[in-house]
Amino acid sequence: MSGDDYKTMTTADIRDDFLRFFANKGCALYPSSPLIPEDPSLLLTNAGMNQFKEYYQGLKTMREIGACSCQKCLRTNDIENIGDSSHLSFFEMLGNFSFGGYTKADAIAWAFEFITDARHLGLPKDRLYMTVFEDDDEAAELWEAQGVSPDHISRLGVEDNFWAAGPTGPCGPCSEIYFDQGPEFAGVKPGDDGDRYLEFWNLVFTQYDRQEDGSMPELPHRNIDTGMGLERIAAIMQHKGSNYDGDVLRDLIGVGEALAKLRYHQNVATDRSLRILADHSRAVTFMIADGILPSNEGRGYVLRRLLRRAVYHGRLMGIRGSFLARYSHEVIRLMADVYPELTDNQPLIDGIILAEEERFGATLDAGEASLGSELTRLAAGADLPGELAFKLHDTYGFPIDLTREICEGAGHGVDMETFDREMAAQRERARASANRDAWGKAASVWVGLSDKLPETLFEGYDSDICRSAKVLAMVDTDGREITHVAAGERVEVILDRTSFYGEMGGQVGDTGKLVGEATELVVTDTKHHEGGLVSHIANVVSGELEAGDTVDTVVDHDRRELIRRNHTATHLLDAALKEVLGDHVSQAGSLVAPDRLRFDFTHFEAMTPDELGRVEDMVNAEIFAAEPMVTRVMGIEEAKASGAVALFGEKYGDVVRVVSTGKGEKPFSRELCGGTHARNTAELGLFKIVSEGSVGSNARRLEAVTSVGAIEYVDERLQQLDRVAAVLKSRPIDVLARVESLERELRDAKRQLSEATLGASAGQLSSLAEAAVQLEGYRCVFLRLEGPTGKELRGVWDSIRDSMGGGAVACVVASTTPDGRVALLAAGTAAAVDAGFHAGNIIKKLAGTVGGRGGGKAGMAQAGGSDPTGIDRALAQAKSLLAA
Ligand code: ALA
Repeated sequence: MSGDDYKTMTTADIRDDFLRFFANKGCALYPSSPLIPEDPSLLLTNAGMNQFKEYYQGLKTMREIGACSCQKCLRTNDIENIGDSSHLSFFEMLGNFSFGGYTKADAIAWAFEFITDARHLGLPKDRLYMTVFEDDDEAAELWEAQGVSPDHISRLGVEDNFWAAGPTGPCGPCSEIYFDQGPEFAGVKPGDDGDRYLEFWNLVFTQYDRQEDGSMPELPHRNIDTGMGLERIAAIMQHKGSNYDGDVLRDLIGVGEALAKLRYHQNVATDRSLRILADHSRAVTFMIADGILPSNEGRGYVLRRLLRRAVYHGRLMGIRGSFLARYSHEVIRLMADVYPELTDNQPLIDGIILAEEERFGATLDAGEASLGSELTRLAAGADLPGELAFKLHDTYGFPIDLTREICEGAGHGVDMETFDREMAAQRERARASANRDAWGKAASVWVGLSDKLPETLFEGYDSDICRSAKVLAMVDTDGREITHVAAGERVEVILDRTSFYGEMGGQVGDTGKLVGEATELVVTDTKHHEGGLVSHIANVVSGELEAGDTVDTVVDHDRRELIRRNHTATHLLDAALKEVLGDHVSQAGSLVAPDRLRFDFTHFEAMTPDELGRVEDMVNAEIFAAEPMVTRVMGIEEAKASGAVALFGEKYGDVVRVVSTGKGEKPFSRELCGGTHARNTAELGLFKIVSEGSVGSNARRLEAVTSVGAIEYVDERLQQLDRVAAVLKSRPIDVLARVESLERELRDAKRQLSEATLGASAGQLSSLAEAAVQLEGYRCVFLRLEGPTGKELRGVWDSIRDSMGGGAVACVVASTTPDGRVALLAAGTAAAVDAGFHAGNIIKKLAGTVGGRGGGKAGMAQAGGSDPTGIDRALAQAKSLLAA
């Protein structure tokens, strides 16, 4: 079977094409969530569907028919297998999802379209095979309806075709798509161990929600979750048999080849190490960029293991010293356009990698020494006890492969049975610690408090003041619960009720005062904690406060008003963006502060000035329409049915607030939102977009201002214009014309200056043109100057060329620079080069004559030299060379 019967695509093209394809089908485009999952039952993000768990469970509703994403994933259950040609720890997963929106039939039809249509992957149909869950006749029929022949469809059981992200949560039967790599690979059917039939896309029909007790109630609706490993499909689309031969990973293998000074595909053992390094270094870089730090527990332990395994394999290949940063820099170079967090965190990544490398290097040295002395005590031919091998592994992090290798070298085996038993026990401990890690927050005082205190009631939607709130608990700056504070101290206060909004959903926390009978606290920030507890971070300015006291909570009114307006503006902006750019726009983060708002959203390219203008106009039109902002509290089901937009990353309870512009059936904006809003859009006064930029290749960021902030912004702009006008001695309205005329003057002045540098007036230049030597096919000026530097000589060439009227002209110029050195330049127009002039060749020959070196292209070349006494000889040499 020929490997060339379909086209070739890069990783970047496939990623882009997949997301566009599903966005065009109406799916909201979601950015990758971090590797640290929100879901506490998971150690690391391991699938695209993780971030949508609550949509599957029906706790959130998506306005669009579904979603799509390219998700960073990490799987380490088979870390020991990494190094073969297919396993990866970190990988990117392309996925499309539906939460009761588009159907199983759509998912199958679209998958088939994407992989076979020549405008997308265009894979040959006869090389595609599908598996379906054993009793899933529906899926089999749907594939057949696409024209897949029944002998390309097979059925597999629970082992292969039932998918779950973790021990609990949404799961379901699936259907996998395989690519036939051809008979030169081992394997007889999809699902076997051979490489011939390569699974590259898994379509999961998520319909159950597995519980702690193992029961599997049905989810509220029938869902879709698909996952296509980007590295795998990239290898297929690049006609390669292994994930590691695809463009990105092969580049990383190249880093190892350069470091270890050896070649890939020449030796089984070093190939394995090269692959392990390529994979692990990438995983490590992404983990640190997402805020995971090496430790001995949970995900920090996974990171440490990967890092150490990489260092160890570097040693195996003979790489000395710290080298991992070389890999992480390459990872950043290759992937930061899609994952800008890599660049943002580069200093952190560098620092952590280096520190761990050094520490582990010392560990390896110590382990080697300790193993060496154990070996001297061992009877000839005896096995090293498994406990010792485990102790080396456990205390020194000394890899068992290395232990075995060193033992073998000394004629000993290792008691692997005991070692494996010890390892199994340790894995059990790691699992337990992973759970602890997931619930790590349990240690925090807030979890304890949330257990015994009721959720703080927020009474600040309509009023800035809440009277006689009771102090339920206080926490000091060391995170300890306390019962009393006095003037001068800083404290976090939890009340039964409050008018203060705790930072949430992008809206910043309120500031203001807590006022008791003889007590006053200034609140500098307000936060949300476990179990809906709101804490007021405050300084006691007078009196004392005891648990059980009552205080009035007084929010800084003016600041809150500004925040209200900016929060309303984010809703209007979201609606306007969807209107102008399309439904793929989905909010990917926001900041609602008093002075401005920031809004991140998914979109493929920079917004044009026209789009920005339309969005701004649309928001301002809503403001000028003076629509009342209407908030209704309703059940989540009713809210979903009303079509309210739910935001990513928000937790919604059974009862939610739905904020709309106006009462009408089709409001401009309707969102589920717990924040505080303007009472009427007119309060926003004016909306101005201040900046538009990129945050990753598929997300954009807008910053905008409203009301007072917008007036300040416009004022400042106008003042700038006034200042510019004053400097230009013109009226603001004439500034543009004035700047244009200044620009013209500047251009003229520059030209005159370069002529002056040449030491000749325009007239002399034209006589210079007359003095030019006519050579075969072009005219050439030979010139000696005093003063111009190498850089200035380029300006000289411009003047010579202009004064000679262009055409086939060239020059060779030598100058004594102010510091007593020599600058040489040869240059010619394209026509002169066509006639045989080659600046680079001339300069190469002349440079030695003035004690220097240099060269360049045919059209332009320069050299520097140290010997001005050679200038005349060099020019004479040039003349004779060119005339020859
Ligand atoms: N979540 C599914 C997988 O990871 C699509 O295979």
